[in-house]
Amino acid sequence: MAVDFRGHPMFAQRGFNAPTRFEADIYDCEVWGEIPSDIEGTFYRLQCDFAYPPPENEWPTGFNGDGHVSTFRFANGSVDFKARYIKTDRLMTERKHRRRLWGVYRNHFTDDPLVAEVDRGAANTHLYWHGGKLLVLKEDALPYYIDPVTLETYGSWDFHGKWTATSMSAHPKIDPVTGEMIAYSYQARGDLSDDIAVYTVNQAGHVTKEVWLKSPYLGIIHDIAITQKYIVIPVIARTTSLERLQSGEPMWEWNGDLPTMVGLLPRDGDASDVRWFQGPARNTLHFLNAVDDGNRVVMDLPVSDTERSPSQIKRWIFDMNSRDDRFGEEVVSTANGVLARMDDRYLSLPYRYGFVGNSDPGLPFDAERAGGPRRTTNTYVRYDLRDNNESVFYVGDVQSLQESGFVPRKGGTEEGDGYIMGVANNYEEMASELHIVDASRMEEGAVAVVKLPFRLRGGTHVNWFSAAELAEQEAEV
Ligand SMILES: [Fe+2]
Repeated sequence: MAVDFRGHPMFAQRGFNAPTRFEADIYDCEVWGEIPSDIEGTFYRLQCDFAYPPPENEWPTGFNGDGHVSTFRFANGSVDFKARYIKTDRLMTERKHRRRLWGVYRNHFTDDPLVAEVDRGAANTHLYWHGGKLLVLKEDALPYYIDPVTLETYGSWDFHGKWTATSMSAHPKIDPVTGEMIAYSYQARGDLSDDIAVYTVNQAGHVTKEVWLKSPYLGIIHDIAITQKYIVIPVIARTTSLERLQSGEPMWEWNGDLPTMVGLLPRDGDASDVRWFQGPARNTLHFLNAVDDGNRVVMDLPVSDTERSPSQIKRWIFDMNSRDDRFGEEVVSTANGVLARMDDRYLSLPYRYGFVGNSDPGLPFDAERAGGPRRTTNTYVRYDLRDNNESVFYVGDVQSLQESGFVPRKGGTEEGDGYIMGVANNYEEMASELHIVDASRMEEGAVAVVKLPFRLRGGTHVNWFSAAELAEQEAEV
């Protein structure tokens, strides 16, 4: 039977977010404006792009689609574009049978028996260049690794056999001081197990430390944060159970009666050293940064008080001297985006700037030209923690922005000296465009816009790696 997405509730409107299902190369993209010559490297982004229609009760987030990577490669003021599917065992098995074989999100009870022994990794969430490998991650499986230039898929990766957990989260953290990657797995002995495994991987890509913990309950652990002393492991009240999976539903459901539990594991400690703090249920997935502050650890993150209330940037405070195991909470910014990024050269260190996509209903949106009203992310906000102010980039009246990435200016070292890049959906043109904004002059608008002659779906995560970083690690391996 041929592929047919009609009638599927996730794709009811064959609009911007319909599956694209193609691979592409554009040599020397069309650019409006001027790409600064001090941008040299590659902007990577992933999207979930369904090769075949999933079951109709699929998790509407779309996070169970096939991994599809696109790159904008910059040199000498020009940019080339490339997009490829990650050739996972999962995708290639489905292509062979020409139909969907996996069930709903992270529920093996709903898979076709044909794929019981096939790796379910979709490689659709995030990418990290580390140890000479471009790792493509999805939290319920081991990574895939791909060629950073050609995007050819090489296979899955277990860190020279030293990664003993069954999966690796899509949100490891790379320490800018040591070059180490702090990475982890949850449900680390297979789906529904309450094990967390935390790994330290040195700059050359070898596992140097492994710690196994028990999770307080089966909650999502989509992201972590690191300081120079601690690994911060939040367990969020989006939970699951054997009964839920057996009922055929996607893995996660919100339970606001559960607490937020946050484990603080000393980077030089073992499982007996972890200290769990707790607070009320909070809806959050991604964390911006954490730092050591005397005897306290503070972590900044976009977070909502309930499952559906608006997000704000808050600071969670963990007092390592207190006897009270509750953590404190303060508002840092009322910017409402859920994907905050920073200058990653300052990750785990005292820092000044955060960047977040924001929806400002006070700015114009031309529904007529855009083909109808839309909920949009129409600004990127840079908030300045030192001077307590915000600068805003407004994308325009027919666009919506996806996650941004910070691009350091070539040769620069000062925090925030560089650019913000992010893909926008242009609803009038039904095409995507990459906006490049000087991070020190957000209000002046994009310095350049890379125009694609087609649309990309909503993305998952982005990362930037400079030409120098890519060459340096290539040379070490
Ligand atoms: Fe994520």
